Amino acid sequence: MSTVQEIAARKAGTVGFHRAVPRLARDPLGALVGFAEQAGGEVVRVNLGAFRPYLVSNPAHVQHVLRDNAANFTRDGKGMLWRSVKRLFGEGILAEGQVWAASRNTLQPLFTAKRVDALVDGLAAAVHESVARLDEPARAGTVVDMGTELSTIVCGAIMRVLFADKVTVPEALRIVEAQNTIATAIVFRLVVPFVPNAVPMPGDRPFRDAVQQIDDILLPIVRTARERGGDGNDGDDIISTLARAVDAEGRPIDERQARNDTVAMFATTTETTFGVLTWLWPILQAHPHVAERLYEEVDRVVGDGPITRAQLGELTYTKMVLEELLRLYPVGWLIPRVSVADDVVGGVHIPAGSDLLASPYITQRMATFWDRPDEFDPDRFASPRAERRHRYAHYPFGGGPHQCLGQYLFYLEAQLIVATILSRFRFRLADPAIPEPQVAASLRPKTKVELTLLPRDRALI
Ligand code: HEM
Repeated sequence: MSTVQEIAARKAGTVGFHRAVPRLARDPLGALVGFAEQAGGEVVRVNLGAFRPYLVSNPAHVQHVLRDNAANFTRDGKGMLWRSVKRLFGEGILAEGQVWAASRNTLQPLFTAKRVDALVDGLAAAVHESVARLDEPARAGTVVDMGTELSTIVCGAIMRVLFADKVTVPEALRIVEAQNTIATAIVFRLVVPFVPNAVPMPGDRPFRDAVQQIDDILLPIVRTARERGGDGNDGDDIISTLARAVDAEGRPIDERQARNDTVAMFATTTETTFGVLTWLWPILQAHPHVAERLYEEVDRVVGDGPITRAQLGELTYTKMVLEELLRLYPVGWLIPRVSVADDVVGGVHIPAGSDLLASPYITQRMATFWDRPDEFDPDRFASPRAERRHRYAHYPFGGGPHQCLGQYLFYLEAQLIVATILSRFRFRLADPAIPEPQVAASLRPKTKVELTLLPRDRALI
């Protein structure tokens, strides 16, 4: 930091302990949006006693932290979320430094637009098969738990096209269950991140058991692939790719890193997608005009046949609905960083070693940056309104060097799933209320989304 900047920089405003704690305890997400809003989008410090993170909400400030000066804001294992996350994912694609760079080099080529486009037919076939299984409960009028159904649909598709069926769907669903346990067990440490790992906390035991359950399934698969060497590992699925992976010096990565990246890629390719799509149904029931436009688009573009890559490009309103869904319910809601050296963000001095918190949930719900922020309105993403917005006003996939690898895949896969379901069914929710978000490592509905599906010829809504 230059002397001129130092002179110009001011200390951050602070939300005091006695104001912050009760509000966070009552409604953590609402409280964080409120603190950022009251600071007018300036960087503000939240005093939680031993833990005092800086809240970064202004899109220009978010850009500085995640992209422009990303080297100074790392996912250091000493930082709040990362310490917990590291206990599951260890060193690899979700870490930092050289190991992260090697993992990113290995995995990024799997998710280029060209490669993902080539997966669409396989994805479409797998999604079609899973969605067809819903005909039976639909005909019988049985209530289904949409979260569970979507996780089965996503796991069926992803295990086939990204894991080459090396992880079976029942195994995948057991891992998803363990991930659910972890996402909520981690909360105890998230809210008091200054407690050392050596001090036992509630949630530790279920966390450890769930990690063990994941390792019991994935480690033997990783080992078998590595033992096989070149033989049978020439595919471009995630397991084969990691079995061939090398570090920066060209040496094969060790088993631990292969395990860490497998666990990370399993989590990022599954729970994110079905997590977001679970919110769609209560939102559509509450906004029938949006639902009707979606049905109209799906009927016009897709018809009866299997969905093709070209058709996905025409599902523009479906894409806007997904973008708006990710504005209100960004599954990766927490993007914490730790500052390496002193810096100035939005005129505020940030000392070295500070915790910073950027959150798409916060920025994307602030009246300072969004008109009618609590209203669900996919037309915000119509051209040219969308282009006029700051790149970091809507950043559900993060940005900069750690930008999500799966953004392109997510939109294609989610369009496919939504279009396939809507082309076959209408639906009615048992409870039309939109669930509250649950604070966990990823954003998820607090209550189940249960609904009745109805074959299209017996329309309900
Ligand atoms: C709705 C779906 C998704 C959302 C909202 C989401 C969100 C995010 C966010 C916010 C980050 C940045 C983390 C940070 O900066 O610290 C990230 C990173 C990442 N995402 Fe996603 N993600 C989604 C789906 C996926 C999918 C389908 C994949 C599959 C490839 C994926 C793979 C990754 C990976 C590997 C990283 C780490 C990248 C790195 O640090 O180099 N994500 N994601």
